[in-house]
Amino acid sequence: MHLGVNIDHIATLRQARLTTYPCPIQAAKDCLEAGADGITAHLREDRRHIQDKDMENLAAMAKAGELHLNMEMAATDEMVAIACKLKPQAVCLVPESREELTTEGGLDVVGHLARMTDVVARLNDAGCAVSMFIDPDTKQIDASKHIQAAVIELHTGHYANFEGEQQQVELKNIQEAAKYADDLGLIVHAGHGLTLDNTKPMVNIPAIIGLNIGHAIVADALFVGIKQATANFKALMQR
Ligand code: PXP
Repeated sequence: MHLGVNIDHIATLRQARLTTYPCPIQAAKDCLEAGADGITAHLREDRRHIQDKDMENLAAMAKAGELHLNMEMAATDEMVAIACKLKPQAVCLVPESREELTTEGGLDVVGHLARMTDVVARLNDAGCAVSMFIDPDTKQIDASKHIQAAVIELHTGHYANFEGEQQQVELKNIQEAAKYADDLGLIVHAGHGLTLDNTKPMVNIPAIIGLNIGHAIVADALFVGIKQATANFKALMQR
């Protein structure tokens, strides 16, 4: 399984004091050394964590063959222009609002079909593998396939926040959605809110071939270091 480590919160810590440390690029290198298969970073419209220069540095490493870069971004003209210039191997389109603490739900591909068709086409032309971050909903999966996205990332945030019966229902939704998308020929990833305690059921879903994990790895890193935190997830993800 592909482990994409989201390094946004290394940059969050740096931006809290507007210092030059901790360095997201060093974190990326350490994660890769510890077994991460790729690095994910979200350039937000409000630049609250990752900065343009960080994304440029990561893209330069990607271009040099040193890492697989998944750039998360909103489907805005500004971000599309940056992605088309930097050409990361992968782009994950996410909904974004200024007020949110983190990405709060999946994209409404169905409701923004014309816009998403245009954005995906521009990113496909730039050679990026485009992923749609969506809830486990067949309508959103069908729409993602229809607009020629190669990848979907199933939003696991609700699963992570729920408990008990509700969590089991959401897990079943994710299992069914993953199979449905895989049968359509889409590449299936998942992510958001995953921790060492709740990730294993995702590993047990055969159609899901990649996970993007950020907050838990950066949080665990405070106690065990980022290499060990990454290695712990990688070990949990062995099939
Ligand atoms: N996948 C997507 C699309 C995200 O937006 C995020 C958060 O930036 C993640 C995965 C990682 O979520 P977390 O930081 O909760 O592990």
